[in-house]
Amino acid sequence: MKYPILRQLEPLAEGIRDSDEPYDDLVLRNTLASLYQELDEALRVVGIRSGKRIDTGYGYAIAPFNAGYCLLDTDRTFSFMKGLINAVEEAKKRFPSQKIHILYAGTGPFASLVLPLTQLYSPDEIKITALDIHPQSTLFLKKLVQELQLEAYFCDYLTKNACFYDHEGEPVTILLSETMAAGLMEEPQAAVFQNLESCVHPDGFLIPEKIRLWASAAIMENNHSKVPNKTELGEVLLADRNWYKANPLDRNRPTHIDNQVPVPQHELNRQTFLETDIQVYNSISIADRSNKMKSCSPLKVPLTLSPAWRDDRDRILNIRFPLGGTRDELRSWIA
Ligand SMILES: C[S@@+](CC[C@H](N)C(=O)[O-])C[C@H]1O[C@@H](n2cnc3c(N)ncnc32)[C@H](O)[C@@H]1O
Repeated sequence: MKYPILRQLEPLAEGIRDSDEPYDDLVLRNTLASLYQELDEALRVVGIRSGKRIDTGYGYAIAPFNAGYCLLDTDRTFSFMKGLINAVEEAKKRFPSQKIHILYAGTGPFASLVLPLTQLYSPDEIKITALDIHPQSTLFLKKLVQELQLEAYFCDYLTKNACFYDHEGEPVTILLSETMAAGLMEEPQAAVFQNLESCVHPDGFLIPEKIRLWASAAIMENNHSKVPNKTELGEVLLADRNWYKANPLDRNRPTHIDNQVPVPQHELNRQTFLETDIQVYNSISIADRSNKMKSCSPLKVPLTLSPAWRDDRDRILNIRFPLGGTRDELRSWIA
């Protein structure tokens, strides 16, 4: 297993590190696809559709085979890998001569997002605590790490719910988690960071560092298939380190977002959406570039179209939903 996988991993790591615009790079995309194929052939986790999703109390932890499949969500994967490499570079400056400790909450079976780091840094420079709620993911990951002889990078493998995990010991340098779907619904990303923010060194990093939800309005085409030019109505949530700190997790219930955005006079047949932008680290971000409905790419969530929209007064759009809740729980109304 070792050599075919490493043959893909080495150029992928260097390509992502050296590329400014990884999204357009066909070579990198192909390398990622080949790596996925090698991993799947070696572990048979995606091929046999292993596992079932688990309710974390704050959204679902997707099944291990789905988690493995996320590697192919190329814009997402490139952005997280690139952002993480850049954060490690910055961390090495902020914490000279210290080992960079990465707590990876939600590794899936491949720990995909940290694999490139193992080709760029030595075990003297970085160490990884792997955490996933699925016991099968932990087993798959241990097997992979052993076969690739990467044991020196991994200091612990925890099968735990990151929403309830209490980290003990020294603060970590980087908290990494990609446990999200559009609108911070369905999956527990917000709760994971609300719970774990306090275990990160004050000068450390959260990856992704900012998630911005905002409401937009657009005129739908007749067949409703495309969303043409849209205008921003206003921000619904800016989830960054300050927000997680100010809103620690209530271990009894999810956090409800309850917000209003102004709706100026508008045109007939406008539809509203909840948009998601992800700032992975610094200039590396994922916004709605492609309109492709992929697992983590920002998606649009239609909000209720009220008849009140169809007159010419300025209005307020109210939006209410639980973080990690289902899309059916998203409420919106015009006042
Ligand atoms: C979207 S997948 C991402 C997999 C991989 N990190 C990647 O980026 O390709 C999310 C992973 O996080 C795990 N996960 C989700 N919520 C979790 C929680 N509360 N505690 C621990 N693991 C969780 C899931 O089991 C799944 O393996």
